[in-house]
Amino acid sequence: MHSVLQRGNAILAYALSVLACLTFVCFASTVFLDYRTNVDIKVISPLVRTIADYGAARERNDLGQVSFDLQANLSNLFNWNVKQLFLYLTAEYETSNNQLNQVVLWDKIILRGENAVLNLKNMNPKYYFWDDGNGLRGNKNITLTLSWNIIPNAGLLPNIFAHGSHSFQFPLDYATGNPRIIL
Ligand SMILES: *[C@@H]1O[C@H](CO)[C@@H](O)[C@H](O)[C@H]1NC(C)=O
Ligand SMILES: *[C@@H]1O[C@H](CO)[C@@H](O)[C@H](O)[C@H]1NC(C)=O
Repeated sequence: MHSVLQRGNAILAYALSVLACLTFVCFASTVFLDYRTNVDIKVISPLVRTIADYGAARERNDLGQVSFDLQANLSNLFNWNVKQLFLYLTAEYETSNNQLNQVVLWDKIILRGENAVLNLKNMNPKYYFWDDGNGLRGNKNITLTLSWNIIPNAGLLPNIFAHGSHSFQFPLDYATGNPRIIL
Protein backbone atom coordinates (compact mmCIF):
# COMPACT_ATOMS: atom_id res chain seq x y z
CA MET A 1 0.00 0.00 0.00
CA HIS A 2 1.36 3.41 -0.94
CA SER A 3 0.36 6.42 1.03
CA VAL A 4 -0.41 9.73 -0.69
CA LEU A 5 2.87 11.08 0.62
CA GLN A 6 4.86 8.27 -0.95
CA ARG A 7 3.13 8.75 -4.26
CA GLY A 8 3.73 12.50 -4.12
CA ASN A 9 7.33 11.87 -3.33
CA ALA A 10 7.74 9.53 -6.29
CA ILE A 11 6.12 12.04 -8.67
CA LEU A 12 8.32 14.83 -7.41
CA ALA A 13 11.47 12.75 -7.79
CA TYR A 14 10.42 11.82 -11.30
CA ALA A 15 9.65 15.42 -12.25
CA LEU A 16 13.00 16.56 -10.90
CA SER A 17 14.91 13.96 -12.84
CA VAL A 18 13.04 14.92 -16.03
CA LEU A 19 13.94 18.55 -15.43
CA ALA A 20 17.57 17.72 -14.75
CA CYS A 21 17.61 15.62 -17.88
CA LEU A 22 16.12 18.43 -20.01
CA THR A 23 18.62 20.91 -18.63
CA PHE A 24 21.39 18.54 -19.53
CA VAL A 25 20.03 18.09 -23.05
CA CYS A 26 19.81 21.88 -23.38
CA PHE A 27 23.43 22.17 -22.33
CA ALA A 28 24.63 19.16 -24.36
CA SER A 29 22.94 20.31 -27.54
CA THR A 30 24.95 23.51 -27.53
CA VAL A 31 28.19 22.70 -25.76
CA PHE A 32 30.10 21.68 -28.87
CA LEU A 33 28.98 24.54 -31.08
CA ASP A 34 31.70 26.81 -32.36
CA TYR A 35 31.05 30.22 -30.89
CA ARG A 36 33.91 31.90 -32.73
CA THR A 37 33.18 34.25 -35.56
CA ASN A 38 34.95 36.83 -37.67
CA VAL A 39 35.46 40.32 -36.40
CA ASP A 40 36.98 43.23 -38.23
CA ILE A 41 38.76 45.78 -36.04
CA LYS A 42 40.61 48.91 -37.15
CA VAL A 43 42.34 51.56 -35.13
CA ILE A 44 42.26 55.18 -36.20
CA SER A 45 45.04 57.67 -35.47
CA PRO A 46 46.53 56.33 -32.24
CA LEU A 47 48.16 58.96 -30.05
CA VAL A 48 50.09 58.67 -26.85
CA ARG A 49 50.37 61.27 -24.13
CA THR A 50 52.44 61.52 -21.03
CA ILE A 51 50.36 62.42 -18.01
CA ALA A 52 51.43 63.11 -14.47
CA ASP A 53 50.17 60.48 -12.12
CA TYR A 54 49.01 62.18 -8.94
CA GLY A 55 50.23 59.30 -6.81
CA ALA A 56 52.99 59.65 -4.26
CA ALA A 57 55.86 59.25 -6.70
CA ARG A 58 54.58 61.90 -9.13
CA GLU A 59 55.70 59.85 -12.06
CA ARG A 60 54.49 60.43 -15.55
CA ASN A 61 52.65 57.55 -17.17
CA ASP A 62 51.66 56.88 -20.75
CA LEU A 63 48.05 57.31 -21.74
CA GLY A 64 47.04 55.90 -25.11
CA GLN A 65 44.30 57.49 -27.18
CA VAL A 66 42.66 55.51 -29.92
CA SER A 67 39.42 55.44 -31.82
CA PHE A 68 38.32 52.26 -33.48
CA ASP A 69 36.01 50.77 -36.10
CA LEU A 70 34.49 47.41 -35.38
CA GLN A 71 32.39 45.20 -37.65
CA ALA A 72 30.98 41.85 -36.63
CA ASN A 73 27.86 39.83 -37.24
CA LEU A 74 27.21 37.94 -34.03
CA SER A 75 23.66 36.85 -34.89
CA ASN A 76 24.63 33.22 -35.39
CA LEU A 77 26.01 33.04 -31.84
CA PHE A 78 22.50 33.18 -30.47
CA ASN A 79 20.75 29.87 -30.02
CA TRP A 80 18.18 28.72 -27.49
CA ASN A 81 20.81 28.30 -24.80
CA VAL A 82 22.29 31.80 -25.10
CA LYS A 83 20.78 34.40 -22.82
CA GLN A 84 23.19 37.22 -23.51
CA LEU A 85 26.67 38.05 -24.76
CA PHE A 86 29.15 40.13 -22.85
CA LEU A 87 31.63 41.61 -25.35
CA TYR A 88 34.89 43.23 -24.41
CA LEU A 89 37.73 44.72 -26.39
CA THR A 90 41.20 44.26 -24.94
CA ALA A 91 44.55 45.70 -25.89
CA GLU A 92 47.52 43.40 -25.37
CA TYR A 93 51.13 44.47 -25.55
CA GLU A 94 54.57 43.81 -24.20
CA THR A 95 56.71 46.26 -22.28
CA SER A 96 60.05 46.07 -20.54
CA ASN A 97 58.13 45.94 -17.23
CA ASN A 98 55.75 43.11 -18.16
CA GLN A 99 55.71 40.45 -20.79
CA LEU A 100 51.94 40.67 -21.12
CA ASN A 101 49.85 43.73 -20.42
CA GLN A 102 46.10 43.56 -20.94
CA VAL A 103 43.85 46.58 -20.83
CA VAL A 104 40.10 46.43 -21.36
CA LEU A 105 39.12 49.42 -23.49
CA TRP A 106 35.45 48.89 -24.20
CA ASP A 107 32.62 46.50 -23.47
CA LYS A 108 29.01 45.89 -24.40
CA ILE A 109 26.16 43.57 -23.48
CA ILE A 110 23.93 42.19 -26.23
CA LEU A 111 20.72 40.61 -25.00
CA ARG A 112 18.98 37.86 -26.90
CA GLY A 113 16.67 39.48 -29.45
CA GLU A 114 18.71 42.66 -29.68
CA ASN A 115 20.54 43.64 -32.85
CA ALA A 116 23.70 41.52 -32.94
CA VAL A 117 25.14 43.07 -36.09
CA LEU A 118 27.78 45.54 -35.02
CA ASN A 119 28.93 48.24 -37.38
CA LEU A 120 30.69 50.74 -35.18
CA LYS A 121 32.62 53.65 -36.63
CA ASN A 122 35.06 55.95 -34.96
CA MET A 123 34.25 54.71 -31.47
CA ASN A 124 35.96 56.03 -28.40
CA PRO A 125 36.98 53.58 -25.69
CA LYS A 126 34.92 53.48 -22.53
CA TYR A 127 37.94 53.06 -20.29
CA TYR A 128 41.28 54.83 -20.10
CA PHE A 129 44.21 53.19 -21.84
CA TRP A 130 46.79 53.66 -19.09
CA ASP A 131 50.15 52.00 -19.01
CA ASP A 132 51.74 51.52 -15.60
CA GLY A 133 54.91 53.10 -16.91
CA ASN A 134 56.12 54.43 -20.23
CA GLY A 135 55.44 51.36 -22.29
CA LEU A 136 53.11 52.83 -24.91
CA ARG A 137 55.22 55.49 -26.61
CA GLY A 138 56.75 53.95 -29.74
CA ASN A 139 55.36 50.52 -28.87
CA LYS A 140 55.32 48.63 -32.17
CA ASN A 141 52.83 45.91 -31.39
CA ILE A 142 49.59 46.71 -29.63
CA THR A 143 47.00 44.06 -30.44
CA LEU A 144 43.29 44.66 -30.07
CA THR A 145 41.07 41.61 -29.70
CA LEU A 146 37.35 41.28 -29.24
CA SER A 147 36.29 38.51 -26.86
CA TRP A 148 32.97 37.47 -25.45
CA ASN A 149 31.49 35.59 -22.56
CA ILE A 150 28.36 33.67 -23.39
CA ILE A 151 25.81 33.78 -20.61
CA PRO A 152 23.89 30.54 -21.12
CA ASN A 153 20.56 29.33 -19.78
CA ALA A 154 22.24 26.14 -18.64
CA GLY A 155 25.77 24.86 -18.65
CA LEU A 156 29.18 26.35 -19.11
CA LEU A 157 30.10 29.97 -19.46
CA PRO A 158 32.63 29.88 -22.25
CA ASN A 159 35.05 32.69 -22.90
CA ILE A 160 35.63 33.06 -26.63
CA PHE A 161 38.18 35.01 -28.62
CA ALA A 162 37.10 36.27 -31.99
CA HIS A 163 38.87 35.40 -35.20
CA GLY A 164 40.61 38.50 -36.33
CA SER A 165 42.45 41.00 -34.23
CA HIS A 166 44.18 44.20 -35.15
CA SER A 167 47.72 45.28 -34.37
CA PHE A 168 48.97 48.83 -34.52
CA GLN A 169 51.81 50.92 -33.18
CA PHE A 170 51.94 54.08 -31.14
CA PRO A 171 53.95 57.05 -32.45
CA LEU A 172 57.42 57.78 -31.13
CA ASP A 173 56.49 61.27 -30.02
CA TYR A 174 54.10 62.29 -27.33
CA ALA A 175 51.09 64.26 -28.51
CA THR A 176 50.69 67.74 -27.17
CA GLY A 177 47.78 70.12 -27.12
CA ASN A 178 44.29 69.48 -25.91
CA PRO A 179 43.27 65.85 -25.45
CA ARG A 180 41.22 64.76 -28.42
CA ILE A 181 39.21 62.31 -26.40
CA ILE A 182 37.35 63.24 -23.27
CA LEU A 183 36.17 60.08 -21.63
C1 LIG B 1 24.18 38.14 -40.05
O1 LIG B 1 24.18 36.73 -39.98
C2 LIG B 1 22.87 36.18 -40.09
C3 LIG B 1 22.96 34.68 -39.83
O2 LIG B 1 24.22 34.16 -40.09
C4 LIG B 1 22.30 36.48 -41.47
O3 LIG B 1 21.01 35.94 -41.59
C5 LIG B 1 22.24 38.00 -41.63
O4 LIG B 1 21.82 38.32 -42.93
C6 LIG B 1 23.63 38.61 -41.37
N1 LIG B 1 23.47 40.08 -41.40
C7 LIG B 1 24.33 40.89 -42.01
C8 LIG B 1 24.03 42.34 -41.96
O5 LIG B 1 25.31 40.47 -42.60
C1 LIG C 1 52.14 41.08 -31.66
O1 LIG C 1 51.63 40.59 -30.45
C2 LIG C 1 50.74 39.48 -30.59
C3 LIG C 1 50.25 39.07 -29.21
O2 LIG C 1 50.04 40.14 -28.37
C4 LIG C 1 51.46 38.33 -31.26
O3 LIG C 1 50.56 37.27 -31.46
C5 LIG C 1 52.04 38.78 -32.59
O4 LIG C 1 52.79 37.74 -33.15
C6 LIG C 1 52.91 40.00 -32.41
N1 LIG C 1 53.34 40.50 -33.71
C7 LIG C 1 54.60 40.85 -33.95
C8 LIG C 1 54.88 41.36 -35.32
O5 LIG C 1 55.47 40.78 -33.10
